[in-house]
Amino acid sequence: MKKIISIVGARPQFIKLAPLSKKLRNYYREIIVHTGQHYDVGMSDSFFRDLDIPKPDYNLDVGSGKQGEQTASMLTKTEDVLIKENPDAVIVFGDTNSTIAGALAAVKLGIRTIHVEAGLRSFNRSMPEEINRVVSDHICDLLFAPTITAVNNLKDEGLTNNVYNTGDIMADVLLENLEKITDNKSPGCSDNPYYLLTLHRPYNVDDISKLKRILDLLNKTDVEIVFPVHPRTKSKVDEFGINKYKNIKYINPLSYTEFLKAHLNCSKVITDSGGIQKEAYLIKKPCITLRSETEWVETVESKWNLLLSEYSDDLPDIINNFNPAGEHPELFGRNVAEKMVEIIRRKI
Ligand code: UD1
Repeated sequence: MKKIISIVGARPQFIKLAPLSKKLRNYYREIIVHTGQHYDVGMSDSFFRDLDIPKPDYNLDVGSGKQGEQTASMLTKTEDVLIKENPDAVIVFGDTNSTIAGALAAVKLGIRTIHVEAGLRSFNRSMPEEINRVVSDHICDLLFAPTITAVNNLKDEGLTNNVYNTGDIMADVLLENLEKITDNKSPGCSDNPYYLLTLHRPYNVDDISKLKRILDLLNKTDVEIVFPVHPRTKSKVDEFGINKYKNIKYINPLSYTEFLKAHLNCSKVITDSGGIQKEAYLIKKPCITLRSETEWVETVESKWNLLLSEYSDDLPDIINNFNPAGEHPELFGRNVAEKMVEIIRRKI
């Protein structure tokens, strides 16, 4: 049996790995490498448990650090594993530091490397993720693009060989888990209407005056805000004591299923995450994205997602009044993991 190594490290990558790993194991010996970028139980273990992902064969324990420091540590440690295991292919996911480190280590060893979620662009080079995406796409051998827009972005950069429009793998996870949900109760969420909030992008949370401005404004919306707080955000919130808002309920990060329930039950979602914009679309929730641009432009074009980056005094009203309706075309495909494995079997 040929051997494939899947490299993950951060929360959204565990989600993307889940369905692919399941299908891949019918034909390949899969080895999972966890870089250790996310290490809290609520950011890592709960996802492996919840989504029934096999225990990683390696945990590189890199932990947190500056961009270069963290990426360098992953690169060195991943290279050692790849030399030892000598796989037939490597799979990397998304746009985190674990993605670029895994891709770089693999291609330099001449190992065929597959990028899941290729071709996304925010065209904002101040985001570490944008650098990770561009570099990963240009060095990987097989590019699995989630949307036509992503395929076209790759084309604009001269990348047309071995590019496949597979659909978005997170749609597989969402649709599968929706079927398993029997109740809508999630920790910290009440039966009253609420908006669900997530915030973790450095440009929203690292500058304390900006983070405070956002929370001050969200405190004035018509309904309660439920806020599962990412550790990056939590450290800022605690350091500066901005955790006492009447209208904002802070809770711990949720597992995949708990978050899905909280999402299904909310009136609207307010986020700066990429994945949540898609999930909101798939379950038909109005989504307000606190960013000036998005990689998932289709959700904005279809008018289910509203981009806001000004944080002006009327932000609470804009959120309260955002009520998309109407057309809801299928944007992200179905049975994506299966399509990916079919392509991998032809190529690897
Ligand atoms: C990373 C990804 C981002 C992705 C996000 C999902 C990069 C550059 N960014 O951002 O694309 O959307 O994951 O969550 O790869 N921390 C903990 N416990 C943990 C993990 C992190 O306390 O388990 C804290 C640490 O203080 C750390 C900070 O969160 O310094 C940021 O973590 P890091 O992995 O560097 O980036 P994220 O903001 O999570």
